[in-house]
Amino acid sequence: MPVVTSTKMFADAYKNGYAVGAFNVNNMEIIQGIAAAATEHHAPLILQVSKGARAYANHIYLMKLIEAAIDDAEQHAGFALPICVHLDHGDTFELCKSCIDGGFSSVMIDGSSKPYEENIKLTKQVVEYAHDHGVVVEGELGTLAGIEDDVKVAAEDSSYTRPEEVEDFVTRTGVDSLAIAIGTSHGAYKFTAAQCTRNAEGLLVPPPLRFDILKEVEKRLPEFPIVLHGSSSVPQEFVKIINANGGKMPDAVGIPEEQLREAARMAVCKINIDSDLRLAMTACIRQYMAEHPEHFDPRQYLKPAREAIKNMVAHKIVDVLGCNDRAAAAL
Ligand code: G3H
Ligand code: 13P
Ligand code: ZN
Repeated sequence: MPVVTSTKMFADAYKNGYAVGAFNVNNMEIIQGIAAAATEHHAPLILQVSKGARAYANHIYLMKLIEAAIDDAEQHAGFALPICVHLDHGDTFELCKSCIDGGFSSVMIDGSSKPYEENIKLTKQVVEYAHDHGVVVEGELGTLAGIEDDVKVAAEDSSYTRPEEVEDFVTRTGVDSLAIAIGTSHGAYKFTAAQCTRNAEGLLVPPPLRFDILKEVEKRLPEFPIVLHGSSSVPQEFVKIINANGGKMPDAVGIPEEQLREAARMAVCKINIDSDLRLAMTACIRQYMAEHPEHFDPRQYLKPAREAIKNMVAHKIVDVLGCNDRAAAAL
């Protein structure tokens, strides 16, 4: 079975109040862990590749590994695993074109840091090429704080999406989905201590997402799929394991899972998760290394790391995104 677009996934997600997980992939173990969780829970899947991931692993390796995940699910689980392969944060027409020509079924053109009219012009150019090739496009309005690829956006330079712009942007560009900024942020340090309060245990509690903006966008764009970037929850159990085993991640903080669940019940159809994969894998490897200082075969620590990714993704699918048992609707 070939890779699929996100069109049917989003239509079903919108109608049934859930979101599809968009997980960033960089190597075989990450792809295998995510695919195993989706296969077990019959979930549709978006695997996304950043410019950095392409530079690290090479486009063709990632594409073939993703195709292998589909074939493996079919052959060993007898299950048609619907996977959409998506370019995350494409920043130029040329990059988007290269991914479209290379077999991706979806691309993001992120013109959110550009002036409004420039964002429209670039996004429209990508949409025209993509749609001619049967590929769907995600655009973005509003700027998230945090780190993506090699770009760091300070909290003071981030800006919420302006709902009054969304209809004009979607109509003039022809995008298939829209990423908006309602207070999520990239990376494992989403908020400074000054932006948060602290709970009884001294842990940081982030400011709530701006559901008022999401509601306004939803009103202006009925039935149109909305995307949330920067949606890792930075589970404190991983941070604790990392810090107890030689790591140093003080005050790492993410988006509370109940707020993501709430967003998924609304117009949000795609939720982006990368940092939580990194944390699951790093926590597992650090602990393994500390407990088995004599081991040096990478398979010994990558196997439990892959399992940790599978368990984390299974939890997201069932308890946060609500996309379990919706795979058939994506085909
Ligand atoms: O939004 C950014 C993603 O987490 C990708 O990160 O560019 O380091 O691969 P990366
Ligand atoms: P996180 O850093 O919160 O995982 O966000 C990932 C993301 O938005 C990828 O585009
Ligand atoms: Zn992102």
